[in-house]
Amino acid sequence: MAMSEKKESRDWYKEAVFYQIWVRSFCDGNGDGIGDLYGVYDKLEYVKSLGVDAIWFNPLYPSPNADYGYDISDYCDIHPDYGDLDQFKKVLNKAHELGMKVIMDLVINHTSDEHKWFKESRKGGDDNPYKDYYIWRDEPNNWDSFFEGKAWEFDSLRGQYYLHLFAKKQPDLNMDNPKVREEVKNILRFWLSMGVDGFREDVINFISKKEGLPNGIGFLPVIGSIHNFKDGPHIHEYLAEFRKVCDEYGAVQIGEGPMTTVNTALKYLSGDTKSMDMMFSFDHMTADCLFTEYLHRPFKLIRLKNALSKWQYKLAGKAWNSLYLENHDHPRIISRYGSEKYHRESGTALATAYMFLKGTPFIYQGQEIGMTNIKLSSIDQYVDVSSKNNYHKYHLKDSIEDRLHRIHVSSRDSARTPVQWDDSENAGFSRVKPWFFVNPNYKEINVKNQESDKESILNYYRECIRLRKNNPVLLYGKYKEYEHGNAFVYMYERRRGNISYFIICSFAPEKILFMLPKGFANHTAKIMLSNYPKKRVPGEIRILPEMGLKLSPYEALVIKMKRTK
Ligand code: GLC
Ligand code: CA
Repeated sequence: MAMSEKKESRDWYKEAVFYQIWVRSFCDGNGDGIGDLYGVYDKLEYVKSLGVDAIWFNPLYPSPNADYGYDISDYCDIHPDYGDLDQFKKVLNKAHELGMKVIMDLVINHTSDEHKWFKESRKGGDDNPYKDYYIWRDEPNNWDSFFEGKAWEFDSLRGQYYLHLFAKKQPDLNMDNPKVREEVKNILRFWLSMGVDGFREDVINFISKKEGLPNGIGFLPVIGSIHNFKDGPHIHEYLAEFRKVCDEYGAVQIGEGPMTTVNTALKYLSGDTKSMDMMFSFDHMTADCLFTEYLHRPFKLIRLKNALSKWQYKLAGKAWNSLYLENHDHPRIISRYGSEKYHRESGTALATAYMFLKGTPFIYQGQEIGMTNIKLSSIDQYVDVSSKNNYHKYHLKDSIEDRLHRIHVSSRDSARTPVQWDDSENAGFSRVKPWFFVNPNYKEINVKNQESDKESILNYYRECIRLRKNNPVLLYGKYKEYEHGNAFVYMYERRRGNISYFIICSFAPEKILFMLPKGFANHTAKIMLSNYPKKRVPGEIRILPEMGLKLSPYEALVIKMKRTK
């Protein structure tokens, strides 16, 4: 049996599809304009109806929202905007009854500056148990933060600087302190004993910093200092401690590691240092940008193919991939990799392109109906700390239009507009004015419309999931890419034994002729899925010698073939 097929108790994730919920914009159940766990409770049947097996919740904990939940002020409670622990338990139980697992977001690189530990730590004093919970220095080094200026902030109470790799209100925890690691284990136990099934672990590759915190080098101080805290000296020791706790409960661990390369990911995913079941790759994010607003460039399919194939090949037989195109940091793909003009076609082509790769697909709320990026008219309307910072810090010589354009294409806020449930006021998200702008296209793009349209993006996602499910070729088959140099078509094979599935996706906004690779002639194939169902009627097709496929704009299809060699 291939390694990937050896089953452990927590291996359910390999055959699962995850749905990611950023609760604040998912559904408002109690009518205050903010999404919450009451809304989630009501929509669980909808989530299940997609064919989803597990939910990942972005942080639900109390937080002053300097970074919308990633600045936690209490790890063992629920933000009052979203409900309370009882409501969370109701959601958890109902999800379990519907056959869906639930994983939480674990953010332990930093807390909020309003967390009790930080408030205590600021007081200093030798017998203060919280004194060394954070990283304090008399003099800062030259690091920049990712979100807000320098990485050090002076605290007048303590009379020292504290480190914050992200926003000022997100002080970094001192993971070298064993007491802090005990706190982390207590947090894990708290949620696991309640019944949650695992964690998505935020910027987990940053938690161990190089001793002495040496200065960074290079033209970009953030990038120039990253080697001082990415995959740091004690990372695998610390993660092994946390893995032990997760092992007691069979909990799944999924690491988020900004700028993780495939080689470093393997250290987290395999061998003696294995501490994660999956890692999120960042490589394909660079298909159109690096650091969102900072470096934006036109989308190139070849960059996307490079990134996807690299992870498929290098993890093969060694580790398991996580598959995603959108999340709360990485806004809407139709606007970025596809085409708003060919909304349905490109939305379904993008689904086809990644849902059949080897690994576990993640769908971000609203992606399944093809939500698009919002275009607000001024930076002041945006709320994301990182968008605002980048806007005011970089490209200052460019015109306002150009600077706003960068925000339109890549601000994290574009991923965070309320989910468009129907065409009623506020898109059916809330009875009152929502906490953030609703994308004006909600009248056309919404769940209700797509439920009743057989060919909608929503129903296409359901079909993709149905096809994957219980299909050993698509779950465990070997990956191989074809025609890599083609700038418009992504084609790959999933093969197991003598059965192959070929996935062919055009990213061209016009008709093209795609010549199938040699060796395909004189085969009989079966169309299993098509996003032009009237043009490609399911059933057998004969591939003629020198067969060119006439592909419509953003056409995608999945065909099944028997292999003779
Ligand atoms: C991760 C999160 C992001 C957050 C950052 C700091 O990248 O996905 O939303 O801002 O970590 O916690
Ligand atoms: Ca609410």
